[in-house]
Amino acid sequence: MRLIAHRGFAGQYPENTRQAVEAAVEFADEVEVDVRRCDTGELVVIHDPTVDRVTDGSGAVCRHSLAELRALDVLGTGEGVPTLEEVVDLVPPTVGLNVELKDVGLAGDVVRLAHRVDPQITVSSFHANELEGCRGADPDIPRAYLFEDDPKQAMEFARDLDCCFVHPSLDCCNERLVGDAHAAGMSVNVWTIRERAEAERLPELGVDGVIADRADVLPELEL
Ligand code: G3P
Ligand code: MG
Repeated sequence: MRLIAHRGFAGQYPENTRQAVEAAVEFADEVEVDVRRCDTGELVVIHDPTVDRVTDGSGAVCRHSLAELRALDVLGTGEGVPTLEEVVDLVPPTVGLNVELKDVGLAGDVVRLAHRVDPQITVSSFHANELEGCRGADPDIPRAYLFEDDPKQAMEFARDLDCCFVHPSLDCCNERLVGDAHAAGMSVNVWTIRERAEAERLPELGVDGVIADRADVLPELEL
């Protein structure tokens, strides 16, 4: 089963930081990060629409310049909010990078970046339009549709968008969904797995991967 480091294994390392990505690539098949655009136009790696929860600053990410974001302290690491480019550089070619588009209007820039970097990039999003934008810009970059409710509609969207993957939340993943996805040629990665007990029933469902907060959620990984 594929192990995808959610925000760079957010249960073990400070989420969406360079530090986390550097540590996560040692254990993960793929690292997932969240991407937004800041006020000066660069793509930056941060989950929330504001900086309040994870930094010593406050306010919307989109109202901060890159220089301001760099000057913040993310989760006491002393690191500022990283750019997507900085994070890409930390991922070796043997490890995948799952770029979650948290906002609209990011697809074109992410596709352009994917064309000039080594790691295999998969684009994921809850926003169907963003995935459509990715397909339009480069249909060969794998797409993953994220959802946490209405699996029937989500599967239709994912099929219509020619996604390689569906990423259901743990709560809405079941054997039927996995069967339908596989029949449509899509793999299933489930989020967010926080501890090993949550991963136990997933192999019998036929799930292909877990998007996990820790590296030790899969039984075969004794760290
Ligand atoms: O990729 C799955 C997961 O990252 C989606 O939820 O809110 O942690 O970005 P969230
Ligand atoms: Mg995410």
